[in-house]
Amino acid sequence: MVELSRLRIGEGATVMQADLALPLPQVPALASGSFDVVMSSLTLHYVDDWSRPLAEFFRLLKPGGTLVFSTHHPYWDRRLIDADDYFQTGLVEDHWSLSGGTPVRFRFYRKTLAQIVTSVAEAGFVIDTVDEPIPSEDLRKVNAAEYDALRKQPAFLIIRAHRA
Ligand SMILES: C[S@@+](CC[C@H](N)C(=O)[O-])C[C@H]1O[C@@H](n2cnc3c(N)ncnc32)[C@H](O)[C@@H]1O
Repeated sequence: MVELSRLRIGEGATVMQADLALPLPQVPALASGSFDVVMSSLTLHYVDDWSRPLAEFFRLLKPGGTLVFSTHHPYWDRRLIDADDYFQTGLVEDHWSLSGGTPVRFRFYRKTLAQIVTSVAEAGFVIDTVDEPIPSEDLRKVNAAEYDALRKQPAFLIIRAHRA
């Protein structure tokens, strides 16, 4: 992903790699209050305790700055837990396969909707929107079964919040 980012962005931006479970590197490029937007696409659910990355995102943003992130939707993840118990949280395992390729197993931390929303608010953010995106018509043309499943069951959650 780091190499892909470098390829896509070219010389236009600095690309760094860091573990979201740890404090970010103390470098001038990550100065407090220096970012307009923090975007995190499908990464937070690999971290158990969201308080650290959310505190870092808050620290990086200018007042009024925006946080946008996507994560697994707890409704979708319920198929991975025992006895369909919505309130069971913690490490779960799933697999991902693309176009009939070899399934790749991965593990992530499942959270309830209340835990997700509350952790954002507890980090000091004001929540602007909570979206449960549905697929576009383009998906129906290439994969009707996937389109039907995602049209009825949200797989992802997208939250936009800001630092007041
Ligand atoms: C599902 S991919 C999403 C990649 C990309 N953001 C996107 O939306 O296409 C998950 C990414 O989270 C990264 N990741 C997993 N655990 C992480 C951690 N503790 N700190 C930072 N990144 C992590 C993985 O390396 C991987 O690049």
